[in-house]
Amino acid sequence: MSRSIIVTVVGARPQFVKAAPLCRALRRRFREVLVHTGQHYDAEMSAAFFDELAIPEPDYNLGIGSGSHGRMTGRMLEALEGVLRQVEPVMVVVLGDTNSTLAGALAAAKLGIPVAHVEAGLRSFDARMPEEINRRLTDHVSALLLCPTPTAVANLKAEGITRGVHRVGDVMMDAVLQNLERARRRVPGASRRALPEPRSYYLATLHRQENVDDADRLRSIMGALSELPHPTLMPLHPRTRKRLRGTGFHGRDAVTLRSPASYLEMLLLVRGARAVLTDSGGLQKEAFILGTPCVTLRETTEWVETVEAGANRLVGADARRIVRAVRAVERRPKRVRSGRLYGDGHAAERIAGLIDRFLRARR
Ligand code: UD1
Repeated sequence: MSRSIIVTVVGARPQFVKAAPLCRALRRRFREVLVHTGQHYDAEMSAAFFDELAIPEPDYNLGIGSGSHGRMTGRMLEALEGVLRQVEPVMVVVLGDTNSTLAGALAAAKLGIPVAHVEAGLRSFDARMPEEINRRLTDHVSALLLCPTPTAVANLKAEGITRGVHRVGDVMMDAVLQNLERARRRVPGASRRALPEPRSYYLATLHRQENVDDADRLRSIMGALSELPHPTLMPLHPRTRKRLRGTGFHGRDAVTLRSPASYLEMLLLVRGARAVLTDSGGLQKEAFILGTPCVTLRETTEWVETVEAGANRLVGADARRIVRAVRAVERRPKRVRSGRLYGDGHAAERIAGLIDRFLRARR
């Protein structure tokens, strides 16, 4: 067994969820140094996830926080370079498609440290999305490309990337399987009572720049939510909270705005919803895995399998299309059957094994 140092870089909410199974698997084989860029810093966006998912305390918190894309990524790049020089890891692991992902990959690649990208190969083919830029660039400097789906492998091949590519399944599947039972047991007492009656509500989340930073799209989506046949519960991302203030929308009877949900609570909320309406990538998958129909408030998705399976409808921000899609779900309220499209719940172990093999081959 090798005790080489691996650095894992996280920074934003979806990465904490993925880091939970991954850190556990990596720490069985390596010494892991966990770096938090500080991109998400509010307690309910960050610390709550570390506590609830028992993610190890970060060894470094760079405290970068918000800013424009260039400033945020640039400051992360500089700070990460300092950490990597000090720690001298044999590999850097990055996850997903956030600014923290790109900064981690770039800092490592420039220092000649091989990069492993978890959730490699995903594409929306919408080059205006900051996430699409981040994932493309990250894939092109990565030595190990750990893909959740066959589609992701094919996307990489189309860009000429075939070396170091592995289909491993999805670490979010690992996270759901490891935590669903905990969620049932652990959201006891007060918070359990606070959960709405199953099938009495729609669950909505919204945070993408293209939706919330565009007042017309934001108004159109909020208008549609107010017209649905059942009430909507909407845990608010801080970005969305700020933007909604600008539009003067303060919630109506039909839409209950609330603070962000914890991961375990979110699993239960998704499972109990009549449908999920979202522009999040992760939530589309979680809805699918948990058997709840999804209406995606975007024109494109990286998770095409969910659409092909008839479990997810892409409707963008147009109010009429949103309402129509929810009515269609209501007419055929069958539960979604996800099977093993996103793996068997052992993606993290497979990733740790592949990293081990990669490092042994280099010695
Ligand atoms: C980021 C990711 C996105 C991911 C999402 C999950 C990028 C480019 N985007 O988007 O891919 O799906 O995280 O949540 O990396 N804010 C707070 N408190 C916090 C965090 C953010 O108030 O704890 C506010 C800040 O004003 C910030 C804004 O929310 O400017 C947006 O945060 P940011 O990290 O830029 O991107 P997200 O929209 O969260």
